[in-house]
Parts: sequence; C-alpha cells; structure tokens
Amino acid sequence: MTEPQAPSAATLALHAGTDERSTGSAFVAGPVFASAFHLPGDQAGVKYQYGRFDNPTWSALEEVIARLESGPALTFASGVAATAAVLTPFVQPGDTIVLPDDGYFATRSYAQTYLARWGVKVRLVATPQMASADFSGVKLVFVETPSNPSLDVVDIEALAARAHAAGALLAVDNTTATVLSQAPLKLGADFSVASDTKAFNGHSDVVFGHVAVRDPELLAGVRQWRTLVGAIPGPMEAWLVHRGLATLDLRLARQSESALAVAELLSRHRAVSLVRYPGLSDDPSHPVARRQMRYFGAVVGFELADAATAQRFLSSCPLLFEATSFGGVHSSAERRVRWGTDQVGEGFIRLSVGVEATADIVAAIGGALDRL
Ligand SMILES: Cc1ncc(COP(=O)(O)O)c(C=O)c1O
Repeated sequence: MTEPQAPSAATLALHAGTDERSTGSAFVAGPVFASAFHLPGDQAGVKYQYGRFDNPTWSALEEVIARLESGPALTFASGVAATAAVLTPFVQPGDTIVLPDDGYFATRSYAQTYLARWGVKVRLVATPQMASADFSGVKLVFVETPSNPSLDVVDIEALAARAHAAGALLAVDNTTATVLSQAPLKLGADFSVASDTKAFNGHSDVVFGHVAVRDPELLAGVRQWRTLVGAIPGPMEAWLVHRGLATLDLRLARQSESALAVAELLSRHRAVSLVRYPGLSDDPSHPVARRQMRYFGAVVGFELADAATAQRFLSSCPLLFEATSFGGVHSSAERRVRWGTDQVGEGFIRLSVGVEATADIVAAIGGALDRL
C-alpha cells in the first residue's frame, strides 16, 4: 500500500483551509463583511467578537499561510503595516535594531522617523555585509532577501544562527521570494514578513501583508499591535489574496523561467552594463540563492547608459507597463532612482517579469533594447 504523502507547498497553497465539504458549500467561503458579531453574555473564548479583533475571512487565509510558513500567521492591511508589527512591539528605548541600508526604503524610513524618536538605536548594514556584521548587543535583526532593488541574497540559516548566538531576534522580509520559494521560519528566522501586494497575491489589485512567527508566543505581541493600531485588512482584500494564492506556484514557475531568459538576454546585450538576477549562474547571489530558493523569482535589475536611455527603453517596450511594484501577472518596470530612495544608478531599471508567454516578453524586451 502506498503511504499517504505530505502535500507539497504548491498543493497546500491550493487546498489548505478548504476542509468544509458539505453539499452546496463553496470551495473557499466568500468574504464575511462584519464589524459586529452576535456576542451574548460572557465573551471570553469567543473567536469572533468585533471586526477589528478577528474575522472569519482573515482566519481562512491565515490558516493557509500558517501551513505554508510553518508558524502561526496574522494578516495586515499592507506590507508596511506588517513590517511595523514586527519592528515595534519587541523593542524598548535603548535597544539596537539592525536594518538593511539597501532594502525597501519605507522600512528604514519608519524606523528612523519613529523608532529612533522613541529611543531605539537604528543601525544600517548593507545586505552583502549582513553575513559578517557584528550583532552583539542587538535586539532585532531585519533583513530582506533578495533585497529590493539590488537583489542581494542572504543565507538565512547562517544569519539566524549568528543572530541567536548574539541574543537577537531575526526577521526576514520575504516579499520578493514569497514563502513558496523560501520559508524563513524553517531556516531559523523568528519572523517572516511579507508585502502580499506583490507576487503573493500577484494580480496588482490589492494592498496586503502578513507576518508569521516561529515561536507562537511572539504572535501575541504582533496581534496586540494589529488590534491597537487597527492595521487590519478588509475582508474583500483577504478573500482576493486567498484566491490569488491558489496560482502562486504556477505563476512563480512561469515568471522565474521567463525572468531567467530575460536576464540571459540582458547579459548578452551591448546596451546593458550590469544585470542582477539571482538565477544567473555568474550572479554574486547565485550560490546562496541556489541552496535557499525554489524559484529565483520575477524581478531582474539592470543598468542602461543613463536616465534618458532607460526612459527611452521604458517608453518603447510594448509589453511593459511603466509602474512601481513588482511580482504581478503583467510585466512592469521602472527607473528606481526616480523615487530618490535607492542607491542605484540613473539608468538602473527594476524589471518585474509577468506571466506573458516567455517568447513574447523576451522578444519585446530584446526589440526595445535593439532600438535604443
Ligand atoms: C520588500 C518590500 N517590503 C515591504 C513593502 C511594503 O509593502 P506595501 O506596499 O504592501 O505596504 C514593499 C513595497 O514595495 C517591498 O517592496
């Protein structure tokens, strides 16, 4: 007799949370729009009490995320709301936190604007230097891998060992990879945080985030923060993310295949001076990425001669939407330096490869480069 096999993450993403099989029930229950629930008498132990505390549509999605992350999870109104729920509750005045100086700018900006004002010391370390940084006296280390937009990759397992040896907690922003590519908690991180606005939902129609924790005790602090500041998702958004998650594995497979083909094309093209993609065998991130990531992902960074050349490329590539954000089903790109927040060159483009047919997106990008 064949032994029952544990479902893979791709199958879990589709099936977890769909145990209700009574005749006439939906595969995934529709959104529950409620600010108040019937709550007579003693409310202790009742799960759904008030719309800011909990909601059945969040619970269904949180159950799937917890299975995928291997740790209990909470959903949030946005990626930055999820990030703040990791950075804020566990630090006191006088504590030191380490953040990447080349990661998503709002994470740094929040810490430097608010946490620093409340007496937390914020130390910035470049992502490639995280592997050798000194964490003594540090309360919390926060990394992003791959980092955004430079796509440097950190060895989460090694970093978790070093952070824990120094008595620090480790949080990983897993937005770019998503949990189907790498599961930070399984590699030893204490928190896995993500902007599900990006690939996790993947359809560019929702702003959303989540946090998962290795030690269930940490969840209470994250939950209290969410409840007290009201950083809660709408039920409709939670339901849309649950629906988007069902195809995440398929999307990552197509996007990663196309992104590698595009990165290889870029590497060979005379107009391109630099390409970063963790899937390229000669990329500095590749050795760790190959061990740690199931998919190398949708995002490719590359550099053209200057701002004007980059802008010409963006305006002349028919399949590319010129937009910020990444990870969605439509290919999109932007000149990152326009925001004034990232340490990249004037001609640096962050490209996110969508689910268009690989040959079409490769031809569209190749054609636009040839016309420069
Ligand atoms: C790596 C990373 N983390 C967090 C965020 C914040 O997410 P959101 O825009 O959903 O608040 C972003 C958004 O671009 C991001 O790229």
